[in-house]
Amino acid sequence: MQTVSALEDLRKIVRNWKLDGKSVGFVPTMGALHQGHISLVQLSVTECDKTVCSIYVNPTQFAPHEDLDSYPRQIIEDQNLLEAADCDLLFLPEPETMYPPGEETRVDVPELGAKLEGQFRPHFFGGVATVVTKLFNQVQPDKAFFGEKDFQQVQVIKRMVTDLSMPVEIVPGPTLRADDGLALSSRNAYLTPEQRQIAPALNATLHRVAIRMRNGTSPEQAITAAITSLELSGFEKVEYIEAVDGQTLDPIGSDLPDYPCRLITAAWLGKTRLIDNIAL
Ligand code: PAJ
Repeated sequence: MQTVSALEDLRKIVRNWKLDGKSVGFVPTMGALHQGHISLVQLSVTECDKTVCSIYVNPTQFAPHEDLDSYPRQIIEDQNLLEAADCDLLFLPEPETMYPPGEETRVDVPELGAKLEGQFRPHFFGGVATVVTKLFNQVQPDKAFFGEKDFQQVQVIKRMVTDLSMPVEIVPGPTLRADDGLALSSRNAYLTPEQRQIAPALNATLHRVAIRMRNGTSPEQAITAAITSLELSGFEKVEYIEAVDGQTLDPIGSDLPDYPCRLITAAWLGKTRLIDNIAL
């Protein structure tokens, strides 16, 4: 695997691949890689001739009070994992490439990006849409792979790609989990051993809500009980649990509709914010 930081180097390599008729898959990440990220790399390796992964901790998707400075960084370990997964190229852009002096342009998906996560992290999807647009322009992939663990992010990126006629296919990959159900996340590294024991309750609770809703309990009733039970098990603050339309992310009514729906949540365990979602 090659590692490049300069945009010219990235462009030269990708241009040569394309001249050879190779398809290019892309997995954007913020590093501190785990098997969830690697599963997307593996998906790209099976679907595309060449695979590019990027690692860039994007400041515009963090609010000033969030964990930009403490976000885990472990480039050597990440390189080893990517190499073992047959990734062809790692792009480690310099901050000045991503946000050149005098930069001011932003990409926004205002409605979809304001729901769920957007209520609690209003800056977040603007930052994601902006950096992913830049990365797409830099890498120019045929396909880009995003994890369903960040379900709203997948929908926001799909909306953006459709609205801006971006020539890239967005491919979602399933959420990878620990054996006890906890969704793998770089932020799990913040959990104390005690909190790590409590954390799987988030996924277990989503499954309980889903079963209750399928058995006829209203979303409101099932969700209110779930929030209480999560708080009793040690979660300090449940920001939301919502049953939503899998595309628009609008809340569903009192009955389970026949189109794809999602149960989606964010909750704080100590100083760590965990998110999760399952199909309904
Ligand atoms: P990051 O959190 O590093 O995640 C990179 C990709 O890995 C995302 O598509 C995310 O959904 C996926 N991922 C994370 N945990 C996963 C899991 N347990 N199973 C499957 N996939 C998982 O998401 C971002 O970075 C950033 O917002 C980014 C898109 C790179 C823009 O800065």
